Amino acid sequence: MDKLIKKAAQDLALAKNVVALTGAGISVESGIPPFRGKGGLWEKIDPMEYAHINSFMKDPVTVWNVLLKDMKEIIDKAVPNKAHKGLARLEELKKLTTIITQNVDGLHQLAGNSDVIEFHGNFVWQRCMKCNSRCKTSEVDLSCIPPKCTCGGIYRPDCVFFGEMIDPDHLVRSRQAASACDIMLVIGTSVIVEPAAYMPVIAKENGAKIIEINPEKTPLTNSISDYIVMGTAGHTLQNIVNQLEILIES
Ligand code: APR
Repeated sequence: MDKLIKKAAQDLALAKNVVALTGAGISVESGIPPFRGKGGLWEKIDPMEYAHINSFMKDPVTVWNVLLKDMKEIIDKAVPNKAHKGLARLEELKKLTTIITQNVDGLHQLAGNSDVIEFHGNFVWQRCMKCNSRCKTSEVDLSCIPPKCTCGGIYRPDCVFFGEMIDPDHLVRSRQAASACDIMLVIGTSVIVEPAAYMPVIAKENGAKIIEINPEKTPLTNSISDYIVMGTAGHTLQNIVNQLEILIES
């Protein structure tokens, strides 16, 4: 792994425009479980039954009780880990420009990154399904399920449920960022949910180098990605950034 840590630092030292695509794995060390694999949320509950817009429309009480209340508790407690801070440092070093995240936890912004495309929305906000007004999830009164807006409308998280479209602005901006970068870091994602999973392909087609950081191989490994640094995001990114800083100073 050390050889690949050095290689990633050397590649980043030469890079001008780095974009990161992140998934649930980058927030595991902040106490937020992934969706798939060991200990994954979808191992416990069926996403098509509890995370699909049709289920929410049909029975918001159950979706709030089974999924959203737990998500609120876990996300409220979560703080950025070494991996989030590593990406913030890469921005300070004028290497990283944009993060395309599939996560709805808001931890990249808390770590200090300024250009974060929230591809699947953000759980920090709730939106009223009647008057469309927004309020902070932390201010929503959960003693009444489903939580209600003052207009009487039901609150839903400002995230993208299965069965819903990606915000067109996020799609356009992500495609632009992917086609303009010279390195795409693909961190903590199983790269199976479209259209987010297509961003590394766009980057590759436009000549970028694809570097994965994940303790497990993904469908990109040995196909689209140039190499994978197999390890947990926090430890791995911190080591890469440390190596990069040594290179920059020398
Ligand atoms: N560091 C880095 N990667 C990790 C870590 C870690 N500490 N722990 C797990 N991983 C990796 C796993 O090996 C896996 O490849 O993170 C990935 C998590 O994959 P998923 O749980 O499928 O999460 P993600 O790819 O973000 O899912 C995409 O699916 O359910 C929907 O909308 C949801 O945004 C989500 C989308």
